[in-house]
Amino acid sequence: AIDISKLRDLSGYVTLDVGYKNTGATKSAITFLDGEVGILKYRGYPIEQLAEQSTFIEVAYLLIYGELPTADQLKNFEHEISRHTLVHEDMKKFFDGFPSGSHPMGQLSSLIGALAAFNPSSLKQGLTNEEINLEIIKLIAKMSTIVSWIYKKSLGHPMMYPQNKMDYVTNFLHMTFGQLTEDVAIDPVVVDAMNKLLILHADHEQNCSASTVRIVGSSDANLYASISAGISALWGPLHGGANQAVIEMLQKIKEDGGDTDKWIAKAKDKNDPFRLMGFGHRVYKNFDPRAKIIKKACDDILAKLNIQDETLEIAKKLEEVALSDPYFVERKLYPNVDFYSGIIYTALGFPTEMFTVLFALGRLPGWIAQWKEMKANKEPIGRPRQIYVGATDRDYTDIASR
Ligand code: ACO
Repeated sequence: AIDISKLRDLSGYVTLDVGYKNTGATKSAITFLDGEVGILKYRGYPIEQLAEQSTFIEVAYLLIYGELPTADQLKNFEHEISRHTLVHEDMKKFFDGFPSGSHPMGQLSSLIGALAAFNPSSLKQGLTNEEINLEIIKLIAKMSTIVSWIYKKSLGHPMMYPQNKMDYVTNFLHMTFGQLTEDVAIDPVVVDAMNKLLILHADHEQNCSASTVRIVGSSDANLYASISAGISALWGPLHGGANQAVIEMLQKIKEDGGDTDKWIAKAKDKNDPFRLMGFGHRVYKNFDPRAKIIKKACDDILAKLNIQDETLEIAKKLEEVALSDPYFVERKLYPNVDFYSGIIYTALGFPTEMFTVLFALGRLPGWIAQWKEMKANKEPIGRPRQIYVGATDRDYTDIASR
């Protein structure tokens, strides 16, 4: 028999990097980020310029196809998306099946996975670029309809149908906040803020969910299955779920009397599991450039909508205290993109449980671009190695003698 304990020596040939803290999994031409300096660029364009001047759909085109579109290309892209916004009526049966109050992220990952069943053409092996492109368009189009349906279900309201004369973001807001019984005008200020938030979330290179999408896709799994897996990865509070966790934390601090020093002390206490949600990042060891943009957008939108928000004051105070505290300074813990996004989502009228779903809507073009690049590069199936540390040689014993 082979003595496995001897084979353990082979572990010397495997690189062990739990959590992939310093392991590159791919070469990518999509997003550049320098976490030490705090730079983020999509296809070479600074995030600050895109957030200020572009729209979500234009950024989606840029990420997926690599170049900013010409006016005709953009018009065509928008037109193609608007032709596919309807979701199969049978999908509504899924909505009926979910218990009311079930978490929107669970609904979203199941529904996006289910789209594969409603689009069997996506399951074919060896799809042409044109066929892949059609699935991409369908997914972007249907995702906004599904997200708005999830929100409507949470209210017990009837679902709205898309109005394809509207642009993508206005249409999404219309399906979400519109009413069958009356016309609800969508404020352009809200459309602007939503575009900005979606752009800032659109890609972030090889994070947990993007890596999940690539690794699932590397087995030749279809686009919908790969994105559904990415949505599940995003759900966790250490990743996209942090935006929900931040606002819950801010509300808790508010209800507790607003003593930010007390909560900072809790975050520093190694015997207390509490962490300052929205602080720290695996890659940014400087200010997250998205947090800077969102903080300003947050001030702007609250002023424009004339909203006084105590949680924003608590957030600013927490930031101020943390950034002058040696614990946070030494560990280079700065506010990340999620620290302020929840405050804007609340101001726009979204309930807390929808925040991570909105993150997913924004991240969709990034996931698609990562999936498409992985395919185009013909990357091999993702399959990490391990160092075995379990029992070596044991003989099976009868259950009566254990
Ligand atoms: N509050 C208090 N202490 C923290 C925090 C925090 N938010 N984040 C990190 N630390 C401390 C850790 O306790 C650790 O301290 P130690 O060296 O004394 O043990 C040190 O800083 C390093 O932390 P790690 O967990 O090793 O860093 P890692 O890179 O693995 O984790 C993460 C990054 C998960 C984002 C972490 O900072 C965290 O949990 N933040 C709060 C959750 C959050 O906001 N997540 C959103 C990330 S952004 C996004 O996904 C869009």
